[in-house]
Amino acid sequence: MFPRINPTTTSAWQQLQQHADGLRGTHLRDLFAADPERFNKFSRCLDELMIDFSKNRLTQETLDLLLQLAEQCRLKDAITAMFEGDYINETEGRSVLHVALRNFSGRPMYAGGKDVMPDVQRVLQQMRDFCDRIHSGAWRGYTGKPIRHIVNIGIGGSDLGPLMVTEALRPYWKEGIQAHFVSNVDASHIAEVLKKVNAEETLFLIASKTFTTQETMTNAGTARAWFLETAKDEAHIAKHFAALSTNGKAVTEFGIDKANMFEFWDWVGGRYSLWSAIGLSIALTIGYDQFEDLLQGAHSTDEHFHKAEFSENIPVLMALIGIWYTNFFGAQTEAILPYDQYLHRFAAYFQQGNMESNGKSVDRNGEAVTYSTGPIVWGEPGTNGQHAFYQLIHQGTNLIPCDFIAPAQSHNPIADHHAKLLSNFFAQTEALMNGKTEEEVEEEMLAAGKSAEDIARLAPFRIFEGNRPTNSILLKKITPRSLGSLIALYEHKIFTQGVIWNIFSFDQWGVELGKQLANRILPELESEEPVTGHDASTNGLINAYKKMR
Ligand code: F6P
Repeated sequence: MFPRINPTTTSAWQQLQQHADGLRGTHLRDLFAADPERFNKFSRCLDELMIDFSKNRLTQETLDLLLQLAEQCRLKDAITAMFEGDYINETEGRSVLHVALRNFSGRPMYAGGKDVMPDVQRVLQQMRDFCDRIHSGAWRGYTGKPIRHIVNIGIGGSDLGPLMVTEALRPYWKEGIQAHFVSNVDASHIAEVLKKVNAEETLFLIASKTFTTQETMTNAGTARAWFLETAKDEAHIAKHFAALSTNGKAVTEFGIDKANMFEFWDWVGGRYSLWSAIGLSIALTIGYDQFEDLLQGAHSTDEHFHKAEFSENIPVLMALIGIWYTNFFGAQTEAILPYDQYLHRFAAYFQQGNMESNGKSVDRNGEAVTYSTGPIVWGEPGTNGQHAFYQLIHQGTNLIPCDFIAPAQSHNPIADHHAKLLSNFFAQTEALMNGKTEEEVEEEMLAAGKSAEDIARLAPFRIFEGNRPTNSILLKKITPRSLGSLIALYEHKIFTQGVIWNIFSFDQWGVELGKQLANRILPELESEEPVTGHDASTNGLINAYKKMR
């Protein structure tokens, strides 16, 4: 059975608490000064990726205790349970097997006693064939023109993954193909996308695990109506609409030919689904072989996560460092800061990955937790973020552990852009760590010719305390393979943290209440009658809206 251990009852947790108290007054500067080997001790490599976690407020003793915490929470058993297809998503009675979607080991993987690999391979083959037909021009639209526009209609996990990956891999886009994404039920989203495409050359992918999600079904209906305004004949829908879903019945009812359905399964969580048929927009945009490289990259991380000792296991280390700050330093948030413009949706993607997975306050025993769980995750690419919110990270009152991510090689080696970009990356992590002392500020101001009075008045504002923790992740280049590896690292980090926090990471009951209430309110918006059935604020807002519209 999946472990059910309250982490605060472990001896490691108690020791970490004491240890944290002892370390609170220690500055990262001193840790580096005391140990010239610190970088070597606290960095790890995996293929062409390197993580430096030496700029964290930890020592070897911290790491040893965190590793003990992982052992005492039976992380090993939990990892085995996931890979063996146990129903670790217990509240929904499902396996959690996104690792099967990128399993190139030749080993079977089981959900409910059934080897899922033949099904996985069948759908991958279907995706490959479909990509071949679209890219070769064998598949044509209703007027005989090849497909040039792919419009993915989905939301949450059926949008963020494909959107993030296609953006990250823009340099790999197939010539002649343009990818577009519609997610929001706000009509402005689809309206703007439809301005860029034409019915004859557009393929709509209706991406929804359940095929019942309000936003997606509304947008799909609007796309269908828009298409028929031009194409006129419903028979043409077969050439222009495909479905990516687990719900064959609803797909047929919507009017999409079963032959145009790409299936996946309930053991694929929505926010872990980009590796499944949900990734069809990726495969169509960058080509199937590149999509397979993405899967291969993720598979290599899976093997590492499954087999590496915890002390060498990068996702486990990332997770433990996060727990160190969340539970022993009171950090409530983490920033993901990619120094790569193509990764501009990376933080948004893992905002869902983290916050929908580990935003839980009831443990696996059904008890309210007494410790913090999932942090608030956010971020924007550098260097833009530097000119927006880094001020607060440097001098604010919150401790915000940051992940800096950058490729060593740019896809656009123009002049010295990349050197400048990376110099900012290195400078920020250095500044966050070292800060600037009072003496340094005074010296600097003196050298700039400031008066003693000015120095005394202004120095306090110019001091940087430093001691702000960062992880630095360097990749050789953002390729489909390295991106796949990187995404899987973060996925397994989330899994590991969920195990230690003793929560269920693969359900999302917290999103249901709002959906139910919206369904109740929608018919109330149709009439002009004032509503009275809610609290005073909700009544007041709805009635004000009715007057204003
Ligand atoms: O509202 C949350 C959610 O259920 C996510 O978990 C999921 O990724 C998204 O909605 C979309 O769901 P579906 O793929 O079923 O349309």
